[in-house]
Amino acid sequence: MFELNDKVALVTGSARGLGQAIALKLAEAGADLALCDLNAEWLEETAEKVKAMGRRAECYGVNVAEGESVTAGVKAIEKDFGKIDILVNNAGITKDGLLMRMSEDDWDAVLNVNLKGTFLCTKAVTRGMMKKRSGTIVNIASVIGLMGNAGQANYAASKGGVISFSKTVGKELASRNVRCNAVAPGFIRTAMTEALDEEVQNKMKELIPLNRFGEPEDVANVVLFLASDASAYVTGQVISTCGGMVM
Ligand SMILES: NC(=O)c1ccc[n+]([C@@H]2O[C@H](COP(=O)([O-])OP(=O)(O)OC[C@H]3O[C@@H](n4cnc5c(N)ncnc54)[C@H](O)[C@@H]3O)[C@@H](O)[C@H]2O)c1
Repeated sequence: MFELNDKVALVTGSARGLGQAIALKLAEAGADLALCDLNAEWLEETAEKVKAMGRRAECYGVNVAEGESVTAGVKAIEKDFGKIDILVNNAGITKDGLLMRMSEDDWDAVLNVNLKGTFLCTKAVTRGMMKKRSGTIVNIASVIGLMGNAGQANYAASKGGVISFSKTVGKELASRNVRCNAVAPGFIRTAMTEALDEEVQNKMKELIPLNRFGEPEDVANVVLFLASDASAYVTGQVISTCGGMVM
């Protein structure tokens, strides 16, 4: 049902964290992987794990916030693999701070990676997907994009933007059989969240009805569903993987 044999998946920010878990989940289902991160060498660990599953993995140094870097990366991937069937826009950063103290640079940095990066990568793969009249795009948003969060104006705006962007792309590309959906993770255990102090972590836990933090695999499972034909009739949707934090 979640079989991805002969599919080529591009996962951004796949050197670690959710991106690595997503890449491994797609490989487990049979996909070959084009792995992208700021530095190609950082991707070696993910690539080795994908190869150990018997799937092909190639590494590309791509800065998703820069148009030229994205165009060159996607061109190289299409040349190496012949096509891209699945795009997972996962690369993302935080630069938290209360609005009154948030610098313009911190605003721009987060919007450029999280929102502009999603736009650039989606645009770059769209021509190929439209031409072959199939493809699926999964954008990693956040529950913060749905509910807001004090101290994360830049991050919340970027992820809210990713959600409305996903709905728009879903509408624009549906007639070419290209689907676009968003996943909105809650509090998932990765380097990004382990950096938060214990008091903040405990407060967050109280807000989660399922009473535990998520694991990267909880998100990867939903991405696999959205990447596969099991979700063939699903586009423009947002699925929260947050233990019920947002209902
Ligand atoms: N961890 C969570 O609880 C959580 C919750 C909600 C949403 N998310 C989202 O999930 C995604 C992954 O988060 P994570 O926790 O695994 O983060 P992470 O910091 O562990 O990993 C992010 C990866 O993206 C890469 N990256 C950063 N900027 C990039 C750029 N400009 N170009 C290419 N790659 C870049 C990093 O090098 C890193 O490998 C992000 O979009 C994040 O906003 C995470």
